[in-house]
Order: sequence, then structure tokens, then C-alpha cells
Amino acid sequence: MDIINNKSHNSPVIPNLCGYCLLILLILVFYTTDGLTQLSPGDLHKSHAHLEGLKNCSECHGIGQKIAQANCLKCHQLLRERINSNQGLHAQPGFEACEKCHVEHHGRDFELIYWENGQENFNHQQTGFALEGKHLTNKCRDCHQEKFIADKEKFLEAKKDLDKTFLGLKKQCLNCHQDEHRGQLSSECVTCHTLNSWKPAERWLAACILLASHGMVFILPTERSCSGIRMSPTSLIFWMLS
Ligand code: HEC
Ligand code: HEC
Ligand code: HEC
Ligand code: HEC
Ligand code: HEC
Ligand code: HEC
Repeated sequence: MDIINNKSHNSPVIPNLCGYCLLILLILVFYTTDGLTQLSPGDLHKSHAHLEGLKNCSECHGIGQKIAQANCLKCHQLLRERINSNQGLHAQPGFEACEKCHVEHHGRDFELIYWENGQENFNHQQTGFALEGKHLTNKCRDCHQEKFIADKEKFLEAKKDLDKTFLGLKKQCLNCHQDEHRGQLSSECVTCHTLNSWKPAERWLAACILLASHGMVFILPTERSCSGIRMSPTSLIFWMLS
């Protein structure tokens, strides 16, 4: 009786087996998670809260804990499209290392977007649409708001908040301004207007275009000409001034 009891409680075989188990288990865990055996260094931002937990580390981290931008872009498809078509901010050089400007693990409410000089001082030239004239006095959200976003469906599908994103605008004037002239003049508004104000405008040019649309073209003996206004040759009437 005693001998049997002693054996079942103090057998040297059982502790040895468990030691091996533990070792194998550790090795397995180490290799299957690429070394991410440690716990998360902190809570993720609220946009990424659904990615909390050990099984999701590899959604963002690649081999050796490095941030894998391809992983980020797997979810952020609208951005991936922009980068692939070489458009927008993130297609610029210096935007490859996501973790440089998107700091994680500092809690649900820690800003996920780091603006190098602050959002208000953002150098808009980087986007390929320089802010000039009156636009310099606009607030960011005067332009970056739902009503000016061109392809709304796509953004709603991707669950974007249309009043929070900076994507989706087009730089053509008519995306945000009414065509006062109902298509009678050019859609290249800056031909006649400056970005400071709609008034005054290049009246002579407007008159020129309107007359041209009725089959008349002026060749002015000054530095100003009507070149650039397209007309069919048959409708050309040359009227030399003086
Ligand atoms: C939503 C994407 C995302 C997920 C999911 C994620 N991380 Fe991270 N993690 C990051 C980013 C981005 C950084 C870089 C942050 C920085 O440099 O400030 C980072 C940095 C780290 C660091 C380095 C911290 C430092 O101070 O250098 C560790 C360690 C880490 N993560 C572990 C984990 C673990 C473990 C998990 C899973 C439990 C995990 N992460 C899940 C995005 C993520
Ligand atoms: C599994 C999908 C998934 C992965 C992987 C992922 N994200 Fe996100 N991310 C989301 C979702 C969902 C949102 C919230 C909706 C939105 O803004 O697109 C979000 C939001 C964001 C935002 C916007 C936050 C804001 O305040 O507007 C940034 C920036 C961001 N993610 C960067 C990253 C970076 C960098 C990585 C890689 C380290 C990454 N994400 C990986 C799904 C993901
Ligand atoms: C007069 C309107 C206007 C104002 C004001 C404005 N933007 Fe823009 N912004 C645009 C347009 C138009 C684009 C799109 C340019 C393109 O893609 O061709 C754009 C693009 C951007 C982008 C690039 C998005 C991407 O990734 O492609 C960022 C970031 C941005 N703006 C930030 C800002 C910030 C920050 C402010 C305020 C300091 C601001 N904008 C003020 C019109 C404006
Ligand atoms: C040099 C800084 C910088 C780097 C590097 C960078 N970003 Fe951004 N990111 C920004 C800024 C600034 C914004 C806010 C303006 C905007 O939306 O374009 C932003 C916005 C975002 C957004 C939100 C856009 C939206 O849908 O409205 C996502 C998602 C994002 N970045 C993901 C990434 C990923 C993925 C990488 C790596 C491939 C990356 N970023 C690299 C600065 C950076
Ligand atoms: C992304 C939207 C957007 C685009 C694109 C845009 N604007 Fe604007 N613009 C605005 C907003 C918003 C204001 C301020 C509100 C207003 O006056 O309509 C403004 C104001 C102006 C003003 C001043 C009006 C006044 O009386 O004070 C002029 C002039 C102007 N824009 C010209 C242009 C021209 C020319 C283009 C094309 C090269 C253009 N804008 C492209 C959004 C835009
Ligand atoms: C060929 C020249 C020309 C082009 C191109 C042109 N405009 Fe004009 N626009 C004028 C003239 C001339 C006036 C009258 C200005 C005045 O009374 O001083 C005017 C007036 C306006 C006004 C009214 C100003 C006011 O307060 O009464 C707006 C708004 C305007 N244009 C917007 C646009 C927009 C938007 C575009 C581009 C889609 C555009 N224009 C293209 C010549 C032009």
C-alpha cells in the first residue's frame, strides 16, 4: 500500500515529462507568434479596439515585431488605392514607415495620427493642391466635409466618418463652387478669376468667349489674345480691331 502511494505521488518520471512538455510548449509559442510572447505594451486606439488580444498581434506586426505596412494596408484599402495610383499624401516619399506617425498602444483616446507641425500648420502643398488667396483663410473643415466628398458611397462602405477624413476631395473648382455661368464660359475658372475673390474678373475674356460661341473671334492688337479658345474653323470670323 505505502509503496504504491509513494510511487504515484513522488514518481520521478512525471515531473520530468512535465518539464519536456513545458519546453516544447514554450518553443511552439515562440515560433508560432514570431517572438511576440510578451503581452501588449498597452491598449490600442479605439479605432483598433477590435484588434485587442494575443491572436491579433500579427494583424499589424510582422516578423520580429516590426510593423508590416502591407498588413495595415490590407484593411486600409482606400489608402492602399491612393498609394498604388501614386496619389495623395501617403504616396509621397517618407510615408512608408507607418509607425513613424501612427503611434499605438497608448490607450483608446491617444491620438493615432501624429501631425508633424500640428494639423493647423499642415503644409498643404504636399497634397498637390496649394492653398492660395482666400482659401488660406478657410478652416480645414470648410473644405474637408461631407458635402464636398465626391465618391461618398465608397467611403461609407469603408465605414469612414465623412466629416473626419481628409480623403475624397477633388481639386477642380466645380467640386466645391457653383458654376455661376451655367457652362457658358470655361470650367477653368482661374482663366478669368483669381483665388482672392470672384470680383473683379477678366471681363474682356468673358466677352470674347461669349462672342466666340456665337461665331466671332477677336484678335486684339494687344498682348491679350483669344488664343486657347477652341472653335470650329468654319465658325471663325476675324475681326481686326483698328
Ligand atoms: C492595430 C495594430 C496593432 C496591433 C493589433 C498590435 N500592435 Fe503592437 N504596435 C503597433 C504599432 C503601430 C506600434 C509602434 C508604435 C510606436 O512606435 O509608438 C507597435 C509597437 C509595439 C511594441 C513596441 C513598443 C515599443 O515601445 O517599442 C510591442 C512590444 C508591441 N507593439 C507588441 C504587441 C503585441 C504583443 C500585440 C498583440 C497583443 C500587438 N502589439 C498588437 C500596432 C499594433
Ligand atoms: C484588421 C483591420 C485593421 C488593421 C490591420 C489596421 N487597421 Fe487601422 N483602422 C481599422 C478600422 C476599422 C479603423 C476605423 C475606421 C477608419 O477610420 O478607417 C481604423 C482606423 C485607423 C486610423 C484612423 C484613426 C482616426 O482617428 O481617424 C489610422 C491612422 C489607422 N487606422 C492606422 C493603421 C495603421 C498604421 C495600421 C498598421 C500598424 C493599421 N491601422 C492596421 C482597421 C485596421
Ligand atoms: C480650399 C479648400 C481646402 C482647405 C481650406 C483645406 N484643404 Fe486639404 N485638400 C483640399 C483638396 C481639394 C484636396 C485634394 C487634393 C488632391 O487629392 O488632388 C486636399 C487634400 C488634403 C490632404 C491629403 C489627403 C490625401 O491623403 O490624399 C490632407 C491631409 C489635407 N488636405 C489636410 C488639410 C488640412 C490639415 C487643412 C487645414 C489646415 C486643409 N487640408 C485645408 C482642399 C482644402
Ligand atoms: C509622415 C507621417 C505619416 C506616415 C509615415 C504615415 N502616415 Fe498615415 N497619416 C498621416 C497624417 C498626417 C494623416 C492625416 C491626414 C490624412 O488623412 O491624410 C494620416 C492618416 C492616415 C489614415 C486615415 C486616413 C483616412 O482614412 O481618413 C490611415 C488609415 C493611415 N494614415 C494609415 C497609414 C499607413 C498604413 C501608413 C504606412 C504605410 C501611414 N499611414 C504612414 C501621417 C503619416
Ligand atoms: C474642396 C473645396 C474647394 C475647391 C476644390 C475650391 N474651393 Fe474655392 N472655396 C472653398 C470654400 C469652402 C470657400 C469659402 C466659402 C465660399 O466663399 O464659398 C472658398 C472660397 C473661394 C473664393 C473666395 C470667395 C469670396 O467671395 O470670398 C474664391 C475666389 C475661390 N474659392 C475660388 C476657387 C477657385 C478658382 C477654385 C479652383 C481653382 C477653387 N476655389 C477650388 C472651397 C473650395
Ligand atoms: C471667361 C471668363 C470667366 C470664366 C472662365 C469664369 N468666369 Fe466667373 N465671372 C466672369 C465675369 C466677367 C464675371 C462678372 C464679374 C464682375 O461683375 O466683376 C464673373 C462672375 C462670377 C461670379 C459672381 C461674382 C459676383 O459676386 O457677382 C462667380 C461666383 C463666378 N463668376 C464663378 C465662376 C466659377 C465657379 C467659374 C469656373 C467654373 C467661373 N466663374 C469661370 C468671367 C468668368
